Amino acid sequence: MSNDEFRAALARLAAGVVLVTAQEPPLDEDGRGEDAGMTATAFMSVSLDPPLVMVSLRNGSRMDDLLDEQPLWAVSVLAEDQRHIAGRFSMKGRISDRLLFEELDCARGPITSAPLVDGALATLECRTEQRVVAGDHTLVIGRVLGAKLPSGGGTAPLMYFRGQYRHLK
Ligand SMILES: Cc1cc2nc3c(=O)[nH]c(=O)nc-3n(C[C@H](O)[C@H](O)[C@H](O)COP(=O)(O)O)c2cc1C
Repeated sequence: MSNDEFRAALARLAAGVVLVTAQEPPLDEDGRGEDAGMTATAFMSVSLDPPLVMVSLRNGSRMDDLLDEQPLWAVSVLAEDQRHIAGRFSMKGRISDRLLFEELDCARGPITSAPLVDGALATLECRTEQRVVAGDHTLVIGRVLGAKLPSGGGTAPLMYFRGQYRHLK
């Protein structure tokens, strides 16, 4: 089986799109760390009791490095009108997300201090329970400490299927 065959088969699995966010640990005692975000589709519900979710992060990606030292993170389930957010937060080789967050309306998660995107379908705040290295990715399993359905949030999801963003019809 070639990489192309693998990719083509898995591209036929329609997925919702989330933004994983976390705050970098502060560089000094007074400071606040920068916010970071990453678009992901490899996100799923794992367990109800206890409530667990999982995201699969490419080893060596900025979010993988960050969640290795920051156990608190959040997930915003993107709505269909938030395709631009998914696009911006999936650009490779970004050094800082500061400017991206300046242009994005967010609330700060009361539990994790991670950004929660306004207008998302749902937001979750999580604390890492387990990290499992799986090939070239790491599965980060998190306990859900808080979940919200923001008022004024969208109602239809942003989807990704066969390499393109889609809307539910
Ligand atoms: C639709 C879409 C879904 C993605 N899903 C994931 C994912 O589940 N896990 C992951 O590690 N990267 C995923 N990516 C890639 C990351 O968003 C991208 O590699 C990252 O933001 C770039 O930062 P980096 O240079 O640190 O890799 C996805 C990208 C797109 C466009």
